[in-house]
Amino acid sequence: ESTSTVTIRGATHPTQKPWFNVPRNIVSKTSRRLHLQNDHPIAITRQIIQANFPQPTYKYYNEYSPVVTTKQNFDSLGFPADHPGRALTDTYYLNEKLLLRTHTSAHQADTFRANESDGYLISADVYRRDAIDRSHYPIFHQMEGARSWDRNKVPNGDIVAAVMEDIERLPKHDVVVEDPNPPMHPERNPLQEAHHSAAEAEALGKHLKRSLENMVVDIFTRAKAAAIKDDPDFVDEPLRMRWVEAYFPFTSPSWELEVYYAGDWLEVLGCGVVKQELYINANVPSQVGWAFGIGIDRIAMLLFKIPDIRLFWSEDERFLSQFTGVSASLDTLKRFVPFSKHPPSPRDVSFWIRSTSSAAGGNDKAVFHENDVMELVRSIGGDEVESVSLIDEFVHPKTGRKSLAYRIVYRHLERTLTGKETNALHERVRNALVERLGVELR
Ligand code: PHE
Repeated sequence: ESTSTVTIRGATHPTQKPWFNVPRNIVSKTSRRLHLQNDHPIAITRQIIQANFPQPTYKYYNEYSPVVTTKQNFDSLGFPADHPGRALTDTYYLNEKLLLRTHTSAHQADTFRANESDGYLISADVYRRDAIDRSHYPIFHQMEGARSWDRNKVPNGDIVAAVMEDIERLPKHDVVVEDPNPPMHPERNPLQEAHHSAAEAEALGKHLKRSLENMVVDIFTRAKAAAIKDDPDFVDEPLRMRWVEAYFPFTSPSWELEVYYAGDWLEVLGCGVVKQELYINANVPSQVGWAFGIGIDRIAMLLFKIPDIRLFWSEDERFLSQFTGVSASLDTLKRFVPFSKHPPSPRDVSFWIRSTSSAAGGNDKAVFHENDVMELVRSIGGDEVESVSLIDEFVHPKTGRKSLAYRIVYRHLERTLTGKETNALHERVRNALVERLGVELR
């Protein structure tokens, strides 16, 4: 039997039906590594985050391959077997065992095992099947960080004293932080009582919060400085932050940090006290600590005022040349100056879907999933698609059949699309909807 393969960053892997669902346009982008491209806004943002977690306390891992096992991405982190993130509709698989990582946490277990420093930082490209609009792209970038203390190495085995002493050494900031909730919640975010005393978990939480607040204050101070360079009259309310309770299968307690910036509360990162099972499984059971994960792309959009996430993938010099020299000298950061914005070309398409989960008689493959529409449009329209949105949905009163209408906005970032070009793209999308998803056009 002939086996098909796919090559990603120089390594060849067998593909397997029905798992393999990575389109060619995604495979080809796995080699871009924007987070390592000198003077690219994604790399600059990574460098700014890194500057807040200095070596040698933190060791940097920026080269991990995006191909990981289901064990690394899900099992090692305690995700249940039926977690929706594992579905083929949400995640890119090569075969039953291998996938494109959906988050940098996929490397936590291995990095806890290998790391000889007190902490680490990982940056990487991550992959998720999702909606299409100006802030969503199937590839984005994350940064993961962790800080650990070893019970066998801190003086007198006193974790609380060691962590508190390290907190004293952290920079101080003067931004107002709201943190109304108690540090632990008995059901949602319990103390890991088999592994920590309450005082230890609280000390770890304090160190985590102060470290991450410092990083976020630094990022947003730089964003404001860039805004003021661009517009000397730029006035904004003072920066505010708040901690909200969160849930992750691999931390407890867990939080998200939100920032009030230019009139909106933005969620910027997730974090928590590392579940002890991770350290135990990584063969370092005497360590305790915290971890966080932050999305780089949204932060970069805010820092540089970049209006569309697709711009990061542009190889147009009018985009790239605006950041020349910033990697070497982070203080020269300034806002992006948009080059002429080309007109949007919206086109609508409506169709009857073949079946729904209730009508399909349990045949999973017949179930219609919106992410399949998103990807089909992206596989044909590439980066010329700005957004895809559901504009109408209705069920026929007699037949019970369901009809959906989507609006696709085509817009090239670098030139104007002609009506003819747009129509040709849209026609190919319409045909592919019939051929690949089995819909009936209306
Ligand atoms: N991996 C999580 C996400 O992608 C973020 C996270 C990282 C949370 C580390 C806690 C600790 O949402």
